[in-house]
Amino acid sequence: MGEQQMTLNTPQSLTDVLQQWDCLEEEYQHAQETHRTYLQKLDEISKLQKSCSSSICLQRIRLKEMHSLVKKCSKGLSEEDALDEIKEKIKMQTNAFFEMEAFLPKKNGLYLSLVLGNVNVTLLSKQLKFAYKDEYETFKLYLTVVLLLFSFTCFFFVSYRFLDAILNFLLVWYYCTLTIRESILITNGSRIKGWWVFHHYISAFLSGVMLTWPDGNLYKIFRNQFLAYSLYQSFVQCLQCYYQSGCLYRLRALGERHNMDLTVEGFQSWMWKGLTFLLPFLFFGHFWQLFNSLSLFRMAQLPACKEWQVLVCSLCFFILFMGNFFTTLAVVYQKLKRRNQKTKILCYKLY
Ligand code: COA
Repeated sequence: MGEQQMTLNTPQSLTDVLQQWDCLEEEYQHAQETHRTYLQKLDEISKLQKSCSSSICLQRIRLKEMHSLVKKCSKGLSEEDALDEIKEKIKMQTNAFFEMEAFLPKKNGLYLSLVLGNVNVTLLSKQLKFAYKDEYETFKLYLTVVLLLFSFTCFFFVSYRFLDAILNFLLVWYYCTLTIRESILITNGSRIKGWWVFHHYISAFLSGVMLTWPDGNLYKIFRNQFLAYSLYQSFVQCLQCYYQSGCLYRLRALGERHNMDLTVEGFQSWMWKGLTFLLPFLFFGHFWQLFNSLSLFRMAQLPACKEWQVLVCSLCFFILFMGNFFTTLAVVYQKLKRRNQKTKILCYKLY
């Protein structure tokens, strides 16, 4: 490489220059040829994507028709075994289409269309999807550490309304970013429950309301409780990120290996260990949200309370408590139910 550069820099004669130029021309032709092939393949891929999408669409319609046909047919018949088998196959095919679609470009939902416009956000391979999810978890972890340090500083060292405002602004920005990233993850086949995305919308709204709460006696009374809660929440989120990245790495390993039974068991035992460690912290956080809601509600009853922010924040904390508590219970219940169906869990987690 170094030698080639030397010869380019100090040509000995005209023939030398011409020879090198011919060489460069040849490489240029080659690059052009490769690029042409690349464009051709891209064209082929986009045609394949279109035909795949439309055949899935068509099949879906036909499956629906088939489903109602089977329903009608099964009413008057005693031999239902064959029909049950068809019903089961219809279910399996519907699930298979859902997984196939995760690798095909699709129209963005309303939120992504509003935020990003109609840009394609589908990642076309499993590796890219894992990498994006991995990056999402890392982003969450870094931002959580920043928020933890920030609330720690505000709680123990400085008491300026201006710094509190920056903390709340950071929270608004963080939650808004999460909603966008999570919508992209859902487009790519992630099974994030709707509540967690909704949770981030409410949290962004809550932080926005906190940002507008004027500095007064009532704000000062609630300030320390809110900062301590933020500190605790950031700490729990660090634990949660650790658990979720752990799940992700193990699932990736599962996807790459073939001796499924052993590794699925390994994954399950790690997941349950992680969950039993995490759950007490999570539930404590949920009850802290309820406590915040009740404190604010009582504050709103005071005659001195003129700020609308108090009641709105109380309501937001209450919604957060209800949603988080019951969704977490439902997640744990679902996991307990699936505990013995190893392969089902694998299908469920590996999109
Ligand atoms: N935020 C974002 N994504 C979440 C999530 C959350 N709180 N909980 C689950 N997910 C994602 C998972 O990463 C997974 O994504 P994938 O399909 O891309 O792999 C998908 O949703 C399905 O996850 P699931 O198997 O249902 O749960 P899990 O084992 O990953 O996590 C809990 C279970 C209970 C740890 C998790 O739901 C949780 O942390 N809940 C509590 C959150 C909370 O209450 N926060 C406030 C604390 S004060």
